[in-house]
Amino acid sequence: MARDTVHGCTQCGFQSPQWHGQCPGCGAWNTLVEEALPSARTGSARVRARGGAAPGGRAAAKQRPRALADVGAAPAERLATGIGELDRVLGGGLVRGSLVLLGGAPGIGKSTLTNMVLGHLEECGRRTLYVSGEESAEQVRLRAERLAPAALRVPIVAETSLEAILDVLAAHAPEACVIDSVQTLHAADLAGAPGSVGQVREVASQIMQLAKARGIAVILVGHVTKDGALAGPRVLEHLVDCVLQFEGERERPYRELRALKNRFGSTNEAGLFEMRAGGLVEVLDASARFVAEATRAPGSVVLAAMEGTRPMLVEVQALVAPSELEQPRRVASGLDRNRLALVLAILGRHGGIGTGGADVFVNVVGGVRVDEPGCDLAVALAVASASRGVPLCASPRGCFGELGLTGELRWVGHPERRLEEAAKHGLREVIAPPDCGAGGVCEAATLSQALAVALPAPGQQRVRAAA
Ligand code: TYD
Ligand code: MG
Repeated sequence: MARDTVHGCTQCGFQSPQWHGQCPGCGAWNTLVEEALPSARTGSARVRARGGAAPGGRAAAKQRPRALADVGAAPAERLATGIGELDRVLGGGLVRGSLVLLGGAPGIGKSTLTNMVLGHLEECGRRTLYVSGEESAEQVRLRAERLAPAALRVPIVAETSLEAILDVLAAHAPEACVIDSVQTLHAADLAGAPGSVGQVREVASQIMQLAKARGIAVILVGHVTKDGALAGPRVLEHLVDCVLQFEGERERPYRELRALKNRFGSTNEAGLFEMRAGGLVEVLDASARFVAEATRAPGSVVLAAMEGTRPMLVEVQALVAPSELEQPRRVASGLDRNRLALVLAILGRHGGIGTGGADVFVNVVGGVRVDEPGCDLAVALAVASASRGVPLCASPRGCFGELGLTGELRWVGHPERRLEEAAKHGLREVIAPPDCGAGGVCEAATLSQALAVALPAPGQQRVRAAA
């Protein structure tokens, strides 16, 4: 063990000089993490020595509580990244002195995106710094050669020692900095390997102290685990101001950027990009593309979804096939698996379409993710259409709405924007819950009404609650 460290439990705070598999304090397993003792935490001293005010120093001054109204709050100063979709997700650009954690699977385009951001900032006359712990400077240059010429103007250090990086940051004094990635950095005070919980926590908190003291906007690139969660301790998510997730299928060109946490903006926004030969390109006409690509075959439905405050038309596809397994497969891509299970149960109970003996696959086309209740009806109609083997009638046709457990179709947010987007892209009619507006709407109060409209059985009258 390195000198002046202790092993602390992340659950109960118990501290011990030795590592234990099971915490003697609370009995939890694998919760002890190596930490630097306060006396050994040279970070604060380092920040003070570099001219910054360490947060610890402030505690000495006597504090008097004030009414919030008397607190002068300066508006957050932002650096526009030049990438509209990213700026929108961030809530208007990078905030000075803030820490943004950017997570995503390997090869999704995190380094490409961050290199483009710094390139644009350099072009606007800002001081930037790219710290690469993962790749050599030559490797990063090879990538930058594929991007816009400004990407090559970004200063880089290929380094993994935290102490060396803090020194460079203090000396170079950038306005924006990228650390690629936080899991590769190593603090000499701790014995743990780079990427271990203790190391990641120490690295992030020391960088944060310097960033806050000097007003540097920092993007920490982070790895994700196999099941898609951000690797490293959850405490990292608590520590940073903003957590961004970069998602998509590697085989498909579309990439989606979402804010999971944002102290300076909304977490509803999502940005869509396409990976091309010259880097990431913003996709501003997503609806037009997805509607044009929609197959209109049995199992295909267009969903009028909301991506934050932006309406977007996406194609939801389903495949229902007889299963040879005792427990048939339920595969959801681009939406929550539990949501699919719920919709299948409602479809069986209130729509008369049972899928008990069949494998069900549902996919939101293009690698897009829809995380909103408004997708329920689209999933139900896609599965019903695939199960019966007939396409939706009166195609092109869109839909949206949440399904209740009693089979009712429920109102969801922003119906007027969804309908406008559908009309703009030539969808003749949209099946929607009641009270969503007029013009091009086919209202349905229940799942069975929606099914009767979308997939009328031969000879069955089309039920229209409202035209
Ligand atoms: P990268 O940014 O290295 O991903 P990450 O940092 O998330 O691991 O990007 C990896 C992929 O992007 C790689 O497979 C090549 C591809 N790519 C392009 O298609 N076009 C480009 O212009 C660039 C720079 C990368
Ligand atoms: Mg990378």
